[in-house]
Amino acid sequence: MTAPLIVGAMVRTLGAYPSGWRYPGAHADPRTDAAVLRRVARVAEDADLDYLFFGDWLATGPDLEFRDPYLLARIDPLSAVLYLAGVTERIGLIATVNSTYADPYATARATASLDLLTGGRAGVNLVTGAEPRAAANHGRDAHADNEARYDRAEEFVRALRLMWESWDADAWVADTGTGVLIDADGLRPAAFAGAHVRVEGPLNVARPPQSHPPIVHAGTSPRSRALAATEADLALIAAGDPAVAAATRAQLRALAEASGRRPDDLKVIVPVVPVVAETDAAARAIVDRLLLLVPIDDGAAGLAERTAFPPNRSIASFLDVAGIDPDDPLREASVDDPVTTAAAARFPEAAAHTLETVRSRTGRDLQGGHRVTWRHLIAAHAVPANFVVGGPRAIADHFELWRDAGAADGFNVLSAFQPAQFEAFASLAVPELRRRGLVGRSGETLRERLGLGAPRLLHAADPLHAEQAAAAR
Ligand SMILES: Cc1cc2nc3c(=O)[nH]c(=O)nc-3n(C[C@H](O)[C@H](O)[C@H](O)COP(=O)(O)O)c2cc1C
Repeated sequence: MTAPLIVGAMVRTLGAYPSGWRYPGAHADPRTDAAVLRRVARVAEDADLDYLFFGDWLATGPDLEFRDPYLLARIDPLSAVLYLAGVTERIGLIATVNSTYADPYATARATASLDLLTGGRAGVNLVTGAEPRAAANHGRDAHADNEARYDRAEEFVRALRLMWESWDADAWVADTGTGVLIDADGLRPAAFAGAHVRVEGPLNVARPPQSHPPIVHAGTSPRSRALAATEADLALIAAGDPAVAAATRAQLRALAEASGRRPDDLKVIVPVVPVVAETDAAARAIVDRLLLLVPIDDGAAGLAERTAFPPNRSIASFLDVAGIDPDDPLREASVDDPVTTAAAARFPEAAAHTLETVRSRTGRDLQGGHRVTWRHLIAAHAVPANFVVGGPRAIADHFELWRDAGAADGFNVLSAFQPAQFEAFASLAVPELRRRGLVGRSGETLRERLGLGAPRLLHAADPLHAEQAAAAR
């Protein structure tokens, strides 16, 4: 693979690491998200990244304070991209839509509108959702199971495409001489009636400049893979290891080919959290501080009693996981004590792995003046992250390694806290990526930037659609 990587910003204003909002100077108040959104958009566009990407979550609750603070309260993704459409000029704008709960007509309308307003920079990330509380927020008794969610998702995406094709590209005539405004033959209903989705159409928004804005799909199950392979332009997969990602990417490409697509028309993207500074040591100091800012039960009054405080954040819980006896004297340690070599020697594989992760990411060790503490271990165990830590060269090495291993066509870049870490990525890592030819895509529309072929138009290729269209005339 030699094509430049796709690189977009996965924007979480409160930061992608749960203690990020506590970092000195970090954005910590969703009531002022607008300013951070504008700043991140400007930085991303100046760095010539491919898109800004907004995830979604359809419920909230006090448990998220510790688990995923950025899910507690934030601007909804379609609102965020529409807001940023007005303050950006070139960058792609991708919003997540949950097909389990969203209405296909409203989704087609909003995304076609975004595509028109931005001259072809819109994209949509379709997910089926993993949050059971979403059901009660949408008048449902329960969150549907995986099969039912994907049955609906398959119909949803088809309905979306049919709606986007409501208008032939030349159906808007506007002949002032004859007074003919539209060619009514070029205006088609979707007339889609599935088991889960029904929508008549046509769409009351003109033809989107990209015809079909790029479709992203994020998920992990076999049904997710099948949906990505047949429908997605970008598959967003979770992967921490390049060999695993390469295998998933190969599987997705093979499935895409089996469904009649060119494998290169399905790009596989992985999320990554680069912790960037001018030097490797300075980047490790940032991770060190982030770990120390993770709230853990250190015996101080109150914290462990807070609503929904996670139970896995104490020495006792860590030692339980490490299989160390309940009467062991290690349990008497204070969280800020250094982990001794003797204690580490007793760790089973998983705990030893956590220790190694802390050492490599923070530069701390079991000996010397800069020692790993129990607090570090508990934090790293309870709040794991896809960190890639270092100066510009280390970050670029990582991107290059994944590309050369066939593990990814691109990255969704998350920032541990905003806006400083995103700015560090843009100002320090991106120039190095560019110097190595790892980034540098171009194109007027998002489809072009992503290197995607023309969309497969249903009305030309699909007999069902042709039949419906004929019946409607
Ligand atoms: C990298 C990645 C990012 C995701 N982002 C979101 C998101 O923003 N909102 C959401 O509801 N689900 C998101 N998901 C979850 C999936 O869309 C899906 O709902 C969940 O994984 C359950 O489906 P599955 O069993 O097919 O994986 C994401 C999944 C992955 C792998």
